[in-house]
Amino acid sequence: MRFATFLRLLAFGLALSLCANDIQGAALSNIDLRSDKAYWFDQPVDHFGKSPSIWKQQYLVNATFYRPGGPIYITTPGENPASNSYTDQTHFTQLAKSTGGLLVNIEHRFFGKSNPMTNLSGSSLRFLTIENVLEDFAAFTRAAKYHPSSVFPTPVSSNSKIIFGGGSYAGNIAAWMRAKYPDLVLGAWASSAIVYARLLYYQFDLSFGRHLEALGCAKQFSQAVQQADVVLLSGNVSALADLQSQFGLPTGLSARDTAGLLAFLSTAYSMQAVSKTIDRVDQGVCAFFRDSSSTTPLQSYAASVKAVIESNRMTLDYLAQTGNSSYGIDDYTLGQIGRVWYYMECTWFGNWQVAPPPNTGLTGYRSQLVDQSYFEPNCKKKFGDNIPTPVNVQKYNDKWVRPLERSSNIYYTSGSLDIWQDATVATSSGNLISSTSKSPIVLIEGATHVQDLRTDRPDDLDSVIKARQIGDALVAKWLK
Ligand SMILES: *[C@@H]1O[C@H](CO)[C@@H](O)[C@H](O)[C@H]1NC(C)=O
Ligand SMILES: *[C@@H]1O[C@H](CO)[C@@H](O)[C@H](O)[C@H]1NC(C)=O
Ligand SMILES: *[C@@H]1O[C@H](CO)[C@@H](O)[C@H](O)[C@H]1NC(C)=O
Ligand SMILES: *[C@@H]1O[C@H](CO)[C@@H](O)[C@H](O)[C@H]1NC(C)=O
Repeated sequence: MRFATFLRLLAFGLALSLCANDIQGAALSNIDLRSDKAYWFDQPVDHFGKSPSIWKQQYLVNATFYRPGGPIYITTPGENPASNSYTDQTHFTQLAKSTGGLLVNIEHRFFGKSNPMTNLSGSSLRFLTIENVLEDFAAFTRAAKYHPSSVFPTPVSSNSKIIFGGGSYAGNIAAWMRAKYPDLVLGAWASSAIVYARLLYYQFDLSFGRHLEALGCAKQFSQAVQQADVVLLSGNVSALADLQSQFGLPTGLSARDTAGLLAFLSTAYSMQAVSKTIDRVDQGVCAFFRDSSSTTPLQSYAASVKAVIESNRMTLDYLAQTGNSSYGIDDYTLGQIGRVWYYMECTWFGNWQVAPPPNTGLTGYRSQLVDQSYFEPNCKKKFGDNIPTPVNVQKYNDKWVRPLERSSNIYYTSGSLDIWQDATVATSSGNLISSTSKSPIVLIEGATHVQDLRTDRPDDLDSVIKARQIGDALVAKWLK
């Protein structure tokens, strides 16, 4: 299920050191300082001695706003490839501008071009541990702070103040970096950080339902899902084929894979920013349920799914592969975000995006067929029989959420319409850790995922603007 992710940091390289020294000696042309130029930092495959091999971690730098003595803002794109959109076009860019800061975006191991191994087999991915991930970023941060000329193409003061930031999973990294290395990292801005793990993350579905409810189409939507389930659960293959063509889906997919594909397609806009003028979930989902030419909820559901397929130009081949949970199970080639994320789900945090289990009695917004058994069997199939299932989520939370309770200088934000809200510390049923003046938690009313880290726009929600102001004031306090 490659679509799982669509839904969301020793030794210095000799070449790099030489290069940096050369650059410092010579006058730099602007072209050399472009923020889309890739730099590479040498890292060991394993920081704990299990492999001596070295790989190169990619990072990008924007020094346009840097003033000597200014802070360094380090972000990681998390599961995404590094891009200068992270250095040039986020709220941190604005912070760097106002504080004379340097911007760095550094890739996460096994994502983008930062590959410790030559393939993504289960055996290679055993080096994908949180401990290794954090040590990568810590090693880079030590170099940036204590040996800046070894990593930066422009003169940077020694002993700079380091601020980590990130959104979604990258927000976890920011929070963990401050919690684990308080002497190295002065503070962290963790936006929509999905730090709290649940084996079955049906709260994803419930949050989506709350968004539909706010827009007035939750009831019809859940009725449509139930109508589709009558067919999906019936075992009637000709009725299944009819349903698939009604929704513009390829025929041939199993009922369960069809259910999974529908869940993916109908939540396609759920993480898009909500502004004063635009809500993509309204345009892409609820609008179809208001359309009087569609008579039943099921027809409205089908029309909205067809529109997602059309406007995103998804071909039947693409849908057949994306929806096929057996597809690419033994494809170990690099560059598959979904495969690496799947490994993290299987071995770190679960978060399987299932329908609310029947015993909860809760209304669902995806098929009952999208349950643990839709996701979990692929863990062993993809990564080997030695992957223990289910993943021990309690152990993970004890290890990675508890330390946050004691940490200062972490700013947490979460959106009240974010499908990931209940994985953040600001859940829909209250904060999981206490919000303190040193580590405040702000719930952004009416916002979806990571909205505070976007650059200002004229039609931003007031709640989003307020969250940015609180964060800016906090960063200013840390830097004093
Ligand atoms: C850094 O980001 C700013 C803001 O987007 C941009 O104007 C500038 O060109 C970037 N610097 C470089 C060297 O690309
Ligand atoms: C994956 O890479 C490792 C180390 O480079 C190699 O030993 C192994 O044979 C590869 N596995 C597959 C399935 O390609
Ligand atoms: C299966 O569905 C078709 C409609 O697609 C219907 O005509 C047929 O009666 C159904 N079969 C059973 C056994 O319910
Ligand atoms: C799903 O993918 C598997 C593995 O590539 C393939 O054997 C199977 O035929 C595919 N199923 C469908 C319905 O396309």
